[in-house]
Amino acid sequence: MNAPGSSQFLSNCTVDTLDQAARALQSGSLIAFPTETVYGLGADATSAQAVARIYDVKGRPADHPLIVHIPGLDSLEIWTSDFPRYAISLARDFWPGPMTLVLPRSATARDFITGGQKTVGLRVPAHPLALGLLHAFKKIGGLGIAAPSANRFGQVSPTTAQAVEEEIGHYLSPIDFILDGGSALVGVESTIIDCTGDSPRILRHGAITKEMIKESTGLNVSETEESDIRVSGSLEKHYSPAAKVILNAMAESGEGFIALSSIPTPRGAIRLASPATTDEYARVLYAALRSADAQGIEKIAVIPPEGEGLALAIQDRLLRASRGRSAQ
Ligand code: TXA
Ligand code: MG
Repeated sequence: MNAPGSSQFLSNCTVDTLDQAARALQSGSLIAFPTETVYGLGADATSAQAVARIYDVKGRPADHPLIVHIPGLDSLEIWTSDFPRYAISLARDFWPGPMTLVLPRSATARDFITGGQKTVGLRVPAHPLALGLLHAFKKIGGLGIAAPSANRFGQVSPTTAQAVEEEIGHYLSPIDFILDGGSALVGVESTIIDCTGDSPRILRHGAITKEMIKESTGLNVSETEESDIRVSGSLEKHYSPAAKVILNAMAESGEGFIALSSIPTPRGAIRLASPATTDEYARVLYAALRSADAQGIEKIAVIPPEGEGLALAIQDRLLRASRGRSAQ
């Protein structure tokens, strides 16, 4: 294992930085990079060796599939064998953006990417550094960048480069980079849409909402039932800070508290965030959970925003965070 912080932390990234990072990707480095949702930990998606390093750094089981990030719609055909017409509507309407499409894979998407499944998850991210890196990588022959969120398995996704450094810096090597692109604008992970059936199915809620998907495709949109998620066993340890998260409760003295700004802080509680809107709630949530851990707070009372759309994504992540701890 390397000394802490032994990767290269790069702020003020230029075109040259991105060319350098793209070349490093090609020779097996890991590049942590900003996206508009959360920071990703990237590797050349065609290299079994480089992708194996992602699993090492994350401490993630190897049968979990990874999202392949691509520079644009043109790359769809490289990674998929087939796509329904509604997937093209979605891609045209929401890429680059916070949306991942699950499609039948081509031979380029190997088992080490798909976890042995017959599908592959694809996304064109909107953050200029992510897109710049993808285009620089394409210029030298790269086909795509596999990138999960840049956190240890089961932990909260990082929304700043500093959070990436704290979370996984210790596990990176001197050949690896962390690209600093500021705070993520959306703050929760992309909407994942299964496009293998006759109509779209939401596998994970995010900023691209059910209404938007309906509007784009003109089709009925289904959602994965909670029971399906539970069966997959993925619920136990996801999006969890070290602190215990309690939902829809008022904090007691000395406990952390996260709620919309319209809800006052209970006496003696430590206010971790008071976002004014649902969008802001998504943007600040993960940093607030992290700051609880940094302050050694053991319990966080959280009042999630009500409603549909992005509020659903926040409710979903918070439910997982709350169950993650109570299951242990
Ligand atoms: O916003 C995001 O999606 C971020 C940024 C970095 O792009 N990435 C991200 O990756 O959240 P990750 O690996 O932390 O979460 C991706 C989820 C996993 O739960 C994985 O199981 C699911 O996507 N996934 C990936 N490929 C899939 C596939 N072929 N079929 C079903 N689920 C898939
Ligand atoms: Mg993740």
